Amino acid sequence: MLIPLILSGGSGTRLWPISRKNLPKQFLPLSGEGTLFQQTVARTERLPDVGAPIVVASDDHRFLVADQLLESLVDGATIILEPVARNTAPAIALGALHAVANDPDAILLVLPADHLIGDTESFVSAVEQALSSAKDGWLVTFGIRPSRPETGFGYIRRAEAINDSAFRVERFVEKPNQETAQSYVADGGYDWNSGMFMFKAARYLEELALHAPAMLASVKEVFATAKGDLDFVRLDAEAFGKVPDDSIDYAVMEKTKRAAVVPVSCEWSDIGSWSALWLAGSKDVNGNLSEGDTIAINTHNALVRSHDRHLVATVGLDDVIVVTTPDATLVAHRDAAQDVKRVVDELKARG
Ligand code: GDD
Ligand code: MG
Repeated sequence: MLIPLILSGGSGTRLWPISRKNLPKQFLPLSGEGTLFQQTVARTERLPDVGAPIVVASDDHRFLVADQLLESLVDGATIILEPVARNTAPAIALGALHAVANDPDAILLVLPADHLIGDTESFVSAVEQALSSAKDGWLVTFGIRPSRPETGFGYIRRAEAINDSAFRVERFVEKPNQETAQSYVADGGYDWNSGMFMFKAARYLEELALHAPAMLASVKEVFATAKGDLDFVRLDAEAFGKVPDDSIDYAVMEKTKRAAVVPVSCEWSDIGSWSALWLAGSKDVNGNLSEGDTIAINTHNALVRSHDRHLVATVGLDDVIVVTTPDATLVAHRDAAQDVKRVVDELKARG
């Protein structure tokens, strides 16, 4: 059975002031209908032969997850709550242990809860194409054609075809520096890693045993003492805090010999920052993406979001981001969108 494993533990600091610690971006309606998390769940319902999802999220967000699933009329989901964030490799290990306990042959489709995907049909078809490789024991990634030398992504070098739809991965490089990213884009033989994965749950655990045995051992220990009630699977906070912190990309994908890539052509965006949201959104003739009550005079390529009925007017400005909320306003240059997280750092330092 194919089981969606939805990773919802990120904090989304670069989308401040909309995305907050208690309400991070995946739980917000940022683009299209419903929240990014609800859109992710809804996409999985279009897949053939799919089981109820496993959601791995922060304990702080348990009611957000439960309420948003209820609102989407999703039944039977398992919600695993992390007392602290230990990054994606342990989160996926928890999901894998849960899945194999119910079905030793379970295939996981790992999905970040905070991506925008333009067309669900291509997503569904890519998942269908990946199925036979996952059944054969490959760790499948979904590759996106790079459009810029982005340093926030993983890069995948394709090798020979292993069947009609997948290629063996020659090399997986997580978050290269600018110069390396530029050479990969120029080379033409590299795809971006979309951050979605598909593999047998048992195969992922085998790879962890090979490449991160200490992590696997400690996650197993935590899982063995997990307490499940009607709504949530809860973990021991002290024990989970001791699990080594690492992402699947560094812990497994850079090291495994059995990685495959299925190229996908759907519109895809990791809504990591306001500039990514601007890039992905549908803009007016002046290149402006606006929401709420706004007036733009001689303004180009801007993202302007007003809150409630608070009118935001921009005059004679290009490439700006203006976001208002009841208690904070962000004004930033579009090129500096990555640095918005520094505002959050500063706020944390202030206490
Ligand atoms: N449950 C849980 N626990 N989820 C987590 C945790 C955690 O500790 N940390 C991150 N996540 C979730 C995030 O919410 C997000 O949905 C997903 O896991 C990926 O984490 P990110 O932190 O957003 O990763 P990234 O964007 O830096 O890099 C990954 O995605 C890129 C594409 O968007 C990598 O897989 C890259 O290789 C890839 O290119
Ligand atoms: Mg991300």
